[in-house]
Amino acid sequence: MVSLVNNISSPSRNVIIMSAAFCVYLQRSWSRSGMDKSKGLVEQLQKCGVVRSKKVAEVLESVDRALFVPEGTPPYIDSPMSIGFNVTISAPHMHAMCLELLENNLQPGMRALDIGSGTGFLTACFALMVGSDGHAVGVEHIPELVARSIKNIETSAAAPLLKEGSLKVHVGDGRLGWPEFAPYDAIHVGAAAPEIPPALIEQLKPGGRLVIPVGNKFQDLQVIDKNSDGSLSVRSETSVRYVPLTSRESQLNGS
Ligand SMILES: C[S@@+](CC[C@H](N)C(=O)[O-])C[C@H]1O[C@@H](n2cnc3c(N)ncnc32)[C@H](O)[C@@H]1O
Ligand SMILES: *[C@@H]1O[C@H](CO)[C@@H](O)[C@H](O)[C@H]1NC(C)=O
Repeated sequence: MVSLVNNISSPSRNVIIMSAAFCVYLQRSWSRSGMDKSKGLVEQLQKCGVVRSKKVAEVLESVDRALFVPEGTPPYIDSPMSIGFNVTISAPHMHAMCLELLENNLQPGMRALDIGSGTGFLTACFALMVGSDGHAVGVEHIPELVARSIKNIETSAAAPLLKEGSLKVHVGDGRLGWPEFAPYDAIHVGAAAPEIPPALIEQLKPGGRLVIPVGNKFQDLQVIDKNSDGSLSVRSETSVRYVPLTSRESQLNGS
């Protein structure tokens, strides 16, 4: 498993990523008891090749997942977990992968938009990456989740950034983006879109990067770079399974 994960020249990227999840799962049983759990999870993600950047590792260690999952939910297992409203907090390896893909677009002072911010975990990570001179904006369409995410963030390492206003979470339909702080250096979508919402392309800065799962049942994690002339470069990173980016009504009806 480990060798597969490290074999980045493998033609089948999705095999690599499924292995990454499985690799983290296998390593769990090797982790020493009494070790700091958040740190332990990040170390596993590093051994499995999902986390490569030092900055990403630091941020993932400092934002404790336990503060973002519902009570009674195991926080340090590499799996998505239900957070109510028919949605999940994404698996740690997906959070890690998206941070890695966006790292160059999450430099201090840059602007980041997190669509479908859910628990607020990744929005908090973005805020720590861009710092107090940047902007990290979360958009989530379930008001109760927005309220809960703000409470979560208030207990986390990103609390000062929320207080001073460089980190914000809004209730809204993420398919429309959030024009107020556009254009963005980084846009992440945490739910699968049947097609790329045009507003998100519009709100991407030249030089900016959008990471978005695209598809219905079978989805690709697409990486879209806006070039300086405004043209787009698109590639698929891996196959993924996310809940749909949809209307509030469809989500709550489970349709
Ligand atoms: C996989 S979940 C949460 C992801 C988040 N990154 C996390 O780990 O907590 C996807 C989220 O997208 C939200 N969502 C779905 N469609 C949306 C829309 N049109 N606008 C805003 N949020 C949406 C869901 O309510 C859900 O919270
Ligand atoms: C989730 O979807 C199901 C249908 O699959 C529906 O019956 C249920 O009410 C939904 N739950 C919530 C919390 O919206």
